[in-house]
Amino acid sequence: MKYGLVLVAAGRGERLGAPCNKALVPLGKKPLLLHAMDRLIHVPGLEETVVVLHPDDLEAIKEGDLGGYLYALGARRLIAGGARRQDSVLLGLQALSADVGGVLIHDAARPFPDVAVATRLLAALEEHAGAVPVVPVTSTVKRIDGRGRVLETPDRAALRLAQTPQAARRLLLIRALEHANAADIDVTDDVQALERLGEGVIAVEDSRWNFKVTTPEDLALAECVLEQGLAAGESP
Ligand code: CTP
Ligand code: MG
Repeated sequence: MKYGLVLVAAGRGERLGAPCNKALVPLGKKPLLLHAMDRLIHVPGLEETVVVLHPDDLEAIKEGDLGGYLYALGARRLIAGGARRQDSVLLGLQALSADVGGVLIHDAARPFPDVAVATRLLAALEEHAGAVPVVPVTSTVKRIDGRGRVLETPDRAALRLAQTPQAARRLLLIRALEHANAADIDVTDDVQALERLGEGVIAVEDSRWNFKVTTPEDLALAECVLEQGLAAGESP
């Protein structure tokens, strides 16, 4: 199966509150989105990448150094994203070549994806429609109502936090996302769209270093991880 990567970087980064879009915020010596790209291009069998950018940034990036660097790393196309993450993902999936059978969808906001885990996720597509990288839930979880009253404490042993890259068969995921859109349903990750259709999704254990940069605290942590070379699979 030919594999492709969709790197979604078209959000605004409101919770980070940086002066530019989150994907362009510097982490070490390069913009956040390049960290994930530099790592994931080493996944064996990955032949094509589409980078989905905020429409306000697209032209400047295409014409600037960052665009040149992304193309040099093997990005096939840089395209504009949509209003919601699921819209950006769908546009990215449609921009890949027709013969790409399996895809990785990755949040540019996660700078430290693990190549070995991504490889296992793609391998899982031989048997499953989708695969999701997960980590255990270490804190006790409370379900609350709109007024903050605790309703229940779910058994965390059966809970996992979903990360990216998530792997899926490309055409199936396109169909699943179109289905969610037609039903006016928001999905917060990719395999959720497959789950809705009853397609089998397998969880694969991931590393905690592959956390998402959402808030300023996360960015400070990412700087530490980078400086100290803590995340496996560090690229130069
Ligand atoms: N994303 C996207 N298109 C959107 C919304 C999000 O491509 N319309 C991407 C983001 O760029 C990010 C990933 O999806 O890489 C995960 O989303 P999130 O962490 O929520 O990033 P932002 O939406 O940028 O941040 P915020 O929600 O704080 O504004
Ligand atoms: Mg968001």
